[in-house]
Amino acid sequence: MDQEHGGHYSYALRYASLTAVYDPVVRRTCRETKFKSELVRQAGVSAGDLALDLACGTGTLTVQLKESCLQADVVGLDGSDEILVTAREKAAGAGVALSFYHALSYEMPFEGARFDRVISSLFFHHLNSEHKQQTLEEVHRVLKPGGELHVADWGKAPNAFFRAAFGVVQLLDGFETTRDSVAGRLPDYMENAGFTRVAETSRVLTPLGSVSLYRAVKPVEEA
Ligand SMILES: C[S@@+](CC[C@H](N)C(=O)[O-])C[C@H]1O[C@@H](n2cnc3c(N)ncnc32)[C@H](O)[C@@H]1O
Repeated sequence: MDQEHGGHYSYALRYASLTAVYDPVVRRTCRETKFKSELVRQAGVSAGDLALDLACGTGTLTVQLKESCLQADVVGLDGSDEILVTAREKAAGAGVALSFYHALSYEMPFEGARFDRVISSLFFHHLNSEHKQQTLEEVHRVLKPGGELHVADWGKAPNAFFRAAFGVVQLLDGFETTRDSVAGRLPDYMENAGFTRVAETSRVLTPLGSVSLYRAVKPVEEA
């Protein structure tokens, strides 16, 4: 919890001082390339779409999303101004045009019904129950009817080995916010926020636990 941000906020690796090592740590410990490639494929961003990478961090996924479809508009949002400096540098290095917004996930600075896709990775396990629910309601608000949410985050482990491995993440990121991840409860929050066709679509097993991919759709009749 960081009071400076005026609400519930967690740094990418708990402490601001660890942000500089975030990329190499995630690359080496979480099979990042594997699960982010699957997430990009699942999101299926297409020409003319407006897509949001929610809690984009250093922008790895934001760049991948844009590279998956150069005719789509992709923006990133994160609660840390500091991490967005890295994200902007990464986008410039990749030669892709991306916009980044500094804001909290449950108070997004966007008009309603604006996005075709919202995509997010390794984020929801940082939020307490109240902010998980508020964030998913915000995502529902900013998506167009028929728009889709695609998430990759720590999920229910398939066995005791991967459950035990996840203890390392819990020690770093805290037990309160990760409890729902362990129990596989993120889909319940999505349904409570008004999403339909909510599904866990696949799992990627990593040395630090099981990453679940989820899909959820904002129903068309709510236009
Ligand atoms: C573990 S990092 C994941 C970053 C990136 N999505 C990835 O997959 O590498 C979590 C990110 O969530 C951001 N964050 C935490 N709480 C937030 C909030 N309430 N609103 C927006 N961003 C938040 C942090 O600044 C951090 O960049």
